[in-house]
Amino acid sequence: MKKIAILGITSAIALEVARLYAKNGASLLIAGRDEQKLSLLKKDLTVFGASDVSSYAIDFAYLENHTSFVEWLWSQGELDCVLIAYGILGNQEDCEKKCELALEVLHVNFISVVSLLHRISQKMITQKSGNIAVISSVAGDRGRQSNFYYGASKGALNIFLQGLRNKLHPHGISVLTIKPGFVDTPMTAHLKKGFLFAASASVAKGIYRAIEKRKDQVYLPVFWGFIMFVIRIVPEKIFKKLKL
Ligand SMILES: NC(=O)c1ccc[n+]([C@@H]2O[C@H](COP(=O)([O-])OP(=O)(O)OC[C@H]3O[C@@H](n4cnc5c(N)ncnc54)[C@H](OP(=O)(O)O)[C@@H]3O)[C@@H](O)[C@H]2O)c1
Repeated sequence: MKKIAILGITSAIALEVARLYAKNGASLLIAGRDEQKLSLLKKDLTVFGASDVSSYAIDFAYLENHTSFVEWLWSQGELDCVLIAYGILGNQEDCEKKCELALEVLHVNFISVVSLLHRISQKMITQKSGNIAVISSVAGDRGRQSNFYYGASKGALNIFLQGLRNKLHPHGISVLTIKPGFVDTPMTAHLKKGFLFAASASVAKGIYRAIEKRKDQVYLPVFWGFIMFVIRIVPEKIFKKLKL
């Protein structure tokens, strides 16, 4: 029986991944900042077939709570996988007007994740096994005027995860960088939906498969790998003139 921790379980994508593990009888440790939602999700995941669900209420923006949270995770026994799913999109225009909002995006999406992974990777090195999966974004592949605070937070995360993967590989621990494109979730509720939008359930299937195959990186849906390849190779001289 697998033991999986999901940080940011109230995310629409994370919940779908959790349900896939629940269907396979996994034991789940779920964390999020809303206690009421956590108790509902515990019931939901039990109905889906999880052998056991434990929850922990935490706002990950408060770094001072990370040590006790990670101690709680490992007090439940050794973990097969930790999925970090939480994040905020922020609003680019508001971030440009108010520095505190810009820094909040970087703090939640990057600094707080690094703080958790610092502690989690030490625990995994001690147990000599494990799988770390983190939801980043295609937005981290190239800075664009429409969302470069969010993009920078995910881009920094991608670099951190590359280094961590390199560090943890000899210890038998895999690190997966998940790069979804547009996904129809509460985070993108305000955006007009087009053909590039994917459903959270189908992205979750891709995440589940990538974790089980111990992949290093995955674009979801996979065609985003091609789109981002093209976007990355456009010369900066041209790219800086585009309205993206
Ligand atoms: N949707 C997309 O198009 C898209 C594309 C690429 C990448 N992603 C990434 O996918 C991940 C999941 O997002 P989603 O699309 O599933 O959106 P979502 O349903 O809005 O989920 C975001 C989750 O993050 C949680 N969260 C935010 N700040 C938190 C904090 N300080 N402490 C604890 N939890 C916090 C929210 O918790 P509450 O429920 O308490 O608010 C919410 O459950 C994010 O990392 C996002 O950047 C999304």
